[in-house]
Amino acid sequence: MTTTPASISSDQNRYSRDDWRRGYQSQRQESAQWLSDSDIEGTIPPELNGTFFRNGPGLLDIGGTPIAHPFDGDGMINAIAFTDGRAHFQNRYVQTAGFVAEQKAGKPLYRGVFGTQKPGGWLANIFDTNFKNIANTNVIYWGEKLLALWEGSQPHRLDPHTLETIGIEDLDGTLAPGAEFAAHPRIDPACVADGGQPCLVNFGIKAGLSSTINTYEFAPDGTLLRRHARSIPGFAFMHDMAITPSYSIFCQNPVTFNPLPMLLGFSGAGACIKFDPKSPTQIYLLPRDGGAPEVYETEACFIFHHANAWESGDEVILDSICYTNFPTVEENTSFLDVDFDALPAGELWRFRIDRTTGQVSRTVIESRCCEFPTLHPDRVGRSYRYLYSGATDQTSGNAPLQAVIKLDLGAEDGQIGRKIYSVAPRGFTGEPVFVPRPGGMAEDDGWVLVLVYEADRHRSSLHILDAQNIEAGAIAKLNLPYHIPYGLHGSFTTDIFTPAS
Ligand code: CO
Repeated sequence: MTTTPASISSDQNRYSRDDWRRGYQSQRQESAQWLSDSDIEGTIPPELNGTFFRNGPGLLDIGGTPIAHPFDGDGMINAIAFTDGRAHFQNRYVQTAGFVAEQKAGKPLYRGVFGTQKPGGWLANIFDTNFKNIANTNVIYWGEKLLALWEGSQPHRLDPHTLETIGIEDLDGTLAPGAEFAAHPRIDPACVADGGQPCLVNFGIKAGLSSTINTYEFAPDGTLLRRHARSIPGFAFMHDMAITPSYSIFCQNPVTFNPLPMLLGFSGAGACIKFDPKSPTQIYLLPRDGGAPEVYETEACFIFHHANAWESGDEVILDSICYTNFPTVEENTSFLDVDFDALPAGELWRFRIDRTTGQVSRTVIESRCCEFPTLHPDRVGRSYRYLYSGATDQTSGNAPLQAVIKLDLGAEDGQIGRKIYSVAPRGFTGEPVFVPRPGGMAEDDGWVLVLVYEADRHRSSLHILDAQNIEAGAIAKLNLPYHIPYGLHGSFTTDIFTPAS
């Protein structure tokens, strides 16, 4: 461990652990319905048209047996379609083979793999493709296909109108059976290799004693444009990727992996992962045209998610959510009992990679705990001014996300601007999604959508914020028929999908 986290004074800590835990109750209901006027507080902007998709674990137990970690929970898709000021909500489970079999049996069938895993067991997903493909991490609409993503294997294709599962998707033969396809695609808004057309960039990690990074780029119609395979030394723990016009960028977290206790059945996979504070974090720049990889080093830190990256002369700048360490997972503890005070805060750091000198410098942009950063889709891979992220209500230490933070990184006076929308003490947030206003010119002209779990009502709601004024509160709040367990990632498409459309 490199640092000990700052202690949190009790007056700062405004949430109740019981409130937070209730957001992790399984949701077995599935439905599709237009929200009525009484479900909507405020006014949905009539220019907001399209569909917000969100994925996440919906079941936190199987037939009453708790699962070990929410990242192991079966994927449930939520979709909220907006059309002319109205909103249609639906949610549905991805009918993976494992989900169907376990629901039929009424008990966990994968207990040997997952049920005995402790928090962090999801790490195992990355390097063992025999696990249940739970399709729970992200959902995107691309190439006229709605895809539920999980990094350990192939995506599942869904009907975007009804969320019915069509089946495992190989992307027109691109993916071999069981091939890893990450949950963190990036859309290059104007790909230089394709005459300025957008393209979808994604990757798959085959991790082992040495690891392979497969990268894929797809045209708007879903056609595969480019694919490259690069081998890197060591066990790769890479959940996310950033892109620039020239590079896909990966950070190799400094971890050692000793699988023996897991293989012998003594231990979950997470407990086999050890953060090594003495080793550097490695930053790989993989030229998107297939050129030779470049590798740079910086002090040890742990990264799940990147915010953005861009090129400036001989520099590549990378903004990421960083942790100063990654605690080794304790056996025989429930994620519901996690000691937030023992976890480092996720801080937004900026890395400047000088390709001429090989040096990497880094600065902390935001020390309040953040996760799930997002930005205007046209600024992906480019210099940008505004970043939105889930954040804690309290200003230091780790805690559940209860706010959305908007950072102004490009003010003329050089100061970083911060605006907060908090739903504490009884509300809990997750990943925000920025939706540009049609015809808008300013980078923050649009809306921020965020699902909120409201512990006082044990229901969830979708909050629509004016991105230029998030601190003013929601301009519309859509009260959903029941609670949605805390989710992971989602996306917005301007296509409007309802069962009848
Ligand atoms: Co993620």
